[in-house]
Amino acid sequence: MSNESGTVVVAGMQYGDEAKGRLVHALADDPNVSMIVRFQGGANAGHTIFMGEKKIVLHLVPSGIPYPDKICVIGNGMVIDPERLINEIKDLQKNDLLIDKKQLRISNLAHITLPSHRERDGKNEKALGQKKIGTTGRGIGPTYEDKIGRRGLRMQDLLCDAKELHSKLEGLPEYSWLNRKQTVSDLMEYGRILKPFICDTGHLINLAIRQNKGIVFEGAQGALLDIDHGTYPFVTSSNTTAGAACTGSGIGPTAIKKVLGVCKAYTTRVGSGPFPTELFDDTGLFLREKGLEKGATTGRDRRCGWLDLVALKYAVRVNGVTKLAITKLDVLSGLKKIQVCKSYKTLKQTNDGKHKFLQIRPDDPFTEFDTKKVTPHYQEFEGWTENLRHIRKFEDLPKAAREYLDYIEKHLEVPITLVSVGPEQNEYFTR
Ligand code: GDP
Ligand code: IMO
Ligand code: MG
Repeated sequence: MSNESGTVVVAGMQYGDEAKGRLVHALADDPNVSMIVRFQGGANAGHTIFMGEKKIVLHLVPSGIPYPDKICVIGNGMVIDPERLINEIKDLQKNDLLIDKKQLRISNLAHITLPSHRERDGKNEKALGQKKIGTTGRGIGPTYEDKIGRRGLRMQDLLCDAKELHSKLEGLPEYSWLNRKQTVSDLMEYGRILKPFICDTGHLINLAIRQNKGIVFEGAQGALLDIDHGTYPFVTSSNTTAGAACTGSGIGPTAIKKVLGVCKAYTTRVGSGPFPTELFDDTGLFLREKGLEKGATTGRDRRCGWLDLVALKYAVRVNGVTKLAITKLDVLSGLKKIQVCKSYKTLKQTNDGKHKFLQIRPDDPFTEFDTKKVTPHYQEFEGWTENLRHIRKFEDLPKAAREYLDYIEKHLEVPITLVSVGPEQNEYFTR
């Protein structure tokens, strides 16, 4: 795909699982792209790519790994569970990928997820009871807590001697009951294995920018899971929006030229939290079954619903999206009618104590979103029956599908430049 080179951030615009991984895989095919960088999140992500018929799910390694001549970077903004990363590397190597170690670079500054972080994640969820976030249980929140609390361990610490490593554990809340000897010996073993990958990745990325090489920054999760801009507290513990590509990889904002917002043709969410357009009927079931909507990381059923233009307009705003990719359009084939949420209604108390309905439109301030009290207001579209998986040109889509995309584009005021119509590598087209 040649028109997307330069520096582009690929950002999820919904609640994650928008098919970012497969798009990064497609964009990275461009000969101008020499680097693929993940900049936030950790093994909570599950990014699915297809190489021919072979399906690969990546959690920590960027989705550019099928290209042996390109460098994949795990940036400083990520949190890394070294045990999982080592297993992921081994699995890739079993599939004849990542044979040359130079293909993967890991930031010396990325923080480390320990088994105690995973345990804390589980305990926190248990303590929340009914109010639980529904995390992936990968220790993401606790690792970022320790990072912000200035007591975390970083990848470069894996290269210390035992005594130094031991003293670095002292800041951890679990220090008093941690099996310190075992932990230090495990960490030193991880360090021995990962040493060839660990370096100053910020230096590498900036060098590539200076040489005008194409770089794809691969976001994880989605805008509504962003720690600041998402449906707090039902969010992940990092900034998932495009700005994080800078802080999470060590570059300045002037280096980013484009932001490709990735949006599923409908909406899904895993875990708890508000979801105004969620469907609890047969259509919801249809989307889940046809879209194979099961979490790529935890295997949980994804909640499914209609597209939400109010939330998407907000995602365009917080990401500075310049282009849109609509994915999984093929899943909608066979629905008689398709709905799109174009505004919300919410009941508001006025100064005189009365309640009145307030309409929230896509350009309005977004303060009501997390109240769970909004009712979506829909625009109805005709469906289509044709199978779309073989289509490679916008003009060849059924009229109803074109009208659906035109409506989205018009309301979000961002051009749709890519549409995917199937999970496999070539099942998409640009425009
Ligand atoms: P990510 O986390 O954003 O990378 O997305 P996931 O990999 O978690 O979820 C996307 C799922 O949809 C994966 O199972 C993909 O194989 C699949 N997929 C991606 N694009 C399409 C598409 O256009 N059509 C269909 N039917 N499936 C797709
Ligand atoms: P990708 O990159 C979908 C959700 C979890 C939970 C919340 C917090 O594949 O799109 P965490 O473990 O991060 O503390 O969980 O965020 N979540 C995701 N949902 N896709 C993801 O990643 C997710 N990563 C986290 O389900 O609701
Ligand atoms: Mg995913």
